Amino acid sequence: MNTDTNTDMNADMNADTNSGANTGAPRHTVALFGAYGHTARFLVDTLHRRGFGLALGGRDPERMRALAEAHPYARVHVASVDDPASLDALLAGTSLVVNAAGPFGDTTPPLIEAALRAGVHYIDITGEQPVTRRTFETYRDRLADSGLLFLPALGFFGALPDLLATLAMGDWAAADEISVAFALDSWHPTEGTRKAGARSAGHRVTVSGGELVPFDDHQTDALDWEFPGEAGTQPVRALGTADQIVISRHLKAPEVRAYMNDAPLSDLRDAGTPPPTAVDEDGRSAQTFLVDVVVRRGAERRAASATGRDIYAVTAPLVAEAVARVLDSRTAPHGTATGVRAPGEVFDAEDFLAAVTDLTYAVR
Ligand SMILES: NC(=O)c1ccc[n+]([C@@H]2O[C@H](COP(=O)([O-])OP(=O)(O)OC[C@H]3O[C@@H](n4cnc5c(N)ncnc54)[C@H](OP(=O)(O)O)[C@@H]3O)[C@@H](O)[C@H]2O)c1
Repeated sequence: MNTDTNTDMNADMNADTNSGANTGAPRHTVALFGAYGHTARFLVDTLHRRGFGLALGGRDPERMRALAEAHPYARVHVASVDDPASLDALLAGTSLVVNAAGPFGDTTPPLIEAALRAGVHYIDITGEQPVTRRTFETYRDRLADSGLLFLPALGFFGALPDLLATLAMGDWAAADEISVAFALDSWHPTEGTRKAGARSAGHRVTVSGGELVPFDDHQTDALDWEFPGEAGTQPVRALGTADQIVISRHLKAPEVRAYMNDAPLSDLRDAGTPPPTAVDEDGRSAQTFLVDVVVRRGAERRAASATGRDIYAVTAPLVAEAVARVLDSRTAPHGTATGVRAPGEVFDAEDFLAAVTDLTYAVR
């Protein structure tokens, strides 16, 4: 690759504006890979609003040039997973990298290796079961003593159900069953979601008998789920999501299930369903979500749920909250968790959810 592309496209333009538009010099710069994707655009705005410096990376020179113009406060690098030096240039001087380039099978390993070389923390937003599982299994031991924290699947899928499950568990050391049910009014998928779904097809698992076992989510019968509030009782179908992987890494339950109502599943199955359309100035779509997590121990049940708008957009405040807590050493134990972890394992779930004002949560 031309070494020109490894340089910061905004270096000349923003020599005196790199301090960020809001609060003077940022204490931390966060690298964002895959920076011109749909979800990444929410991440850029949210991380900037929260006062982090930004180093933006992506593989398409033209699209990165457009980003450099739109965000003069950011460092902007053309970077590719095939060119480790370009990733090193992107991560230089940063404290943490967020990987938003999915499908993630090709991007997670090189970004984790780059994070290790640079000595920075790593977060990705994958919703893919196989990638999330591989990250935990491949890196958990290797990274345990790295002094760095790696949080895979930190998005609407992965983080939000895990935090709700952790909250619902409360003081229970174990449950018989943890079930996550999603009610979406629709799902207009991005190209990244469609590609990721195709990569995961045929490789999905669920947690049964305390093990991750293969699972065909095309073959599941509907069951009725009593959602709280106006959503009411709806038929849902079992599916394999990153949530089973993340939750089963730290919460003890032999059965961990995920379900979704029919409207979004029909949208996903229809190749003609368009990508999301913005309906407000922040770029959010009109999509609504409800995530309901029920934990059961014998005849006892506890539940926690969250509602909000746009599953892609809400991923940004979840990531930004995690970034803030990691960089402020507000993780358990002792403020400095290391290794590959689940969000509910390292963050105070209730405090975290309360801080994400883009969603509303409740326990019952
Ligand atoms: N866990 C969750 O709840 C959650 C939430 C939001 C998104 N996601 C996932 O995150 C991914 C991105 O979502 P999105 O909505 O932003 O999709 P998107 O708009 O299609 O963007 C995907 C981005 O990833 C980049 N990319 C893909 N493969 C790459 C590679 N090998 N090297 C470099 N860049 C690569 C794309 O660049 P090019 O255009 O150059 O290919 C693009 O910038 C998807 O897999 C999606 O399912 C998960």
